[in-house]
Amino acid sequence: MQIIAHRGASGEFPENTLLAIAQAILQGADAIEVDVYAVEGELIVIHDPKLERTTNGTGTIYQHSLAYLQQLDAGEGEPIPTLWQVLELVQDRCWLNIELKGKDTAQPLLALLAKAEQELGLSLSDVLVSSFNHHLLLQLKQALPELRLGALTASLQLNYAQYVHDLGMYSVHCDLNFIDQQLVHDAHQLGLKVFVYTVDGLDDISAMQQLGVDGIFTNYPARSRVWAFEG
Ligand code: G3P
Ligand code: CA
Repeated sequence: MQIIAHRGASGEFPENTLLAIAQAILQGADAIEVDVYAVEGELIVIHDPKLERTTNGTGTIYQHSLAYLQQLDAGEGEPIPTLWQVLELVQDRCWLNIELKGKDTAQPLLALLAKAEQELGLSLSDVLVSSFNHHLLLQLKQALPELRLGALTASLQLNYAQYVHDLGMYSVHCDLNFIDQQLVHDAHQLGLKVFVYTVDGLDDISAMQQLGVDGIFTNYPARSRVWAFEG
């Protein structure tokens, strides 16, 4: 079962910062998950469109210039990183799940991945792009068929695995509250991976192992790794 650091090691460090990502790598996470929006054509890494919860800024990211956003404090003096900085940091240390949150992210992402393949030697097999916006995922699939794509859902949906398979996705990304044996079984029968968010507790980690899911998103990669190993 893969241990995916949710927004980096965000239980201990400021989420979606280079610090949290570097720490997750040090803690032995198999993968890093980050949330992405586009501002002025640049992909930036932050979870909420509103700035108040995770930075010292106010308002929404779309009200401000990129320059303003990049001088904000996202916790412990860390700036809001660009996705390019994340790619540079992660390199081939682990794989990366890029969750597209914002509008107009598809074209900048395609350009950035092409640049990273050229300049960083990035392998697309080390990238998994996910989104709740399945229309956006289909756009990416059309433009770059070999890109691995994951369809996020935050609710229980009938025949979800079949639907995701028919979209041509690589994986199902499901809320811990809605995962069940049937979904895991259906997904695996159809050749899909199953990733579950957000799994931090010992009992939940054991339950996910029992279900045979392929990976969990966790805010505590070090601890979760130990618990998963012991389980
Ligand atoms: O990608 C899994 C999970 O991060 C989706 O929900 O709100 O934490 O971005 P959220
Ligand atoms: Ca996310």
